[in-house]
Amino acid sequence: MDESNIIFSETKQFEELMMMYECAILEVRTKLEVLDREFSVRYKRNPISSIESRVKSPMSIYRKLKKDNLEISVKNITRNLNDVAGIRVICNFIDDIYNVVNLLGRQDDVRVVSTKDYIRNPKSNGYRSYHMIVEIPIFFAKCKQIMRVEVQIRTIAMNFWASLEHQLRYKKDIEMMEGIDEISRELLEAANVIAETDQRMQEIKYKIEKIADA
Ligand code: GTP
Ligand code: MG
Repeated sequence: MDESNIIFSETKQFEELMMMYECAILEVRTKLEVLDREFSVRYKRNPISSIESRVKSPMSIYRKLKKDNLEISVKNITRNLNDVAGIRVICNFIDDIYNVVNLLGRQDDVRVVSTKDYIRNPKSNGYRSYHMIVEIPIFFAKCKQIMRVEVQIRTIAMNFWASLEHQLRYKKDIEMMEGIDEISRELLEAANVIAETDQRMQEIKYKIEKIADA
């Protein structure tokens, strides 16, 4: 028996809903892969380095609803959670991120629900990434469903930082840890160095493109 049977009373509906989110991931992933494929033929270069995706685990869904004091139900999942389906797009350069954002956002079956630009406005801990919540229609045997997907777009360097910071943050009782202020400060410094390097790599890329175009 998997954990969702214990947590959710509407087991069958829950299973169907998770399948729908998986399909939404497939759809958005394909859109991104199409953009990358086309770009690679046209410009002999891949803007996307890799794509990761996941459906939120039943336990995380449960915790998030509980935290918001919401009853655990299929209805509350679709109404209140934006990140059940999550896709992470790892780009090579900063300008690739904005290209992906624009190209995905203007597709006519994609509705951009909200965006957060943590690259132009980094979080105080140094976190950088571009976040988009999008809705897309998915065609099933008997119906069309509009599904929500959270897309996080970042460079390889930003991903490197976020992975380490995430590991650290999810250690138990991190706030109480001795030396946490020092670690936070060092992490922020590392984020700034990384951001500067991303910027420099971007400028080098522009210079190379200029020479190639001349
Ligand atoms: P959640 O309720 O945590 O999903 O956040 P939110 O609704 O305030 O949205 P936001 O766009 O700020 O963050 C969504 C997701 O971005 C998180 O679930 C993480 O995957 C990622 N994220 C946001 N902030 C950080 C951070 O400081 N560090 C790391 N490593 N990831 C972050
Ligand atoms: Mg989240």
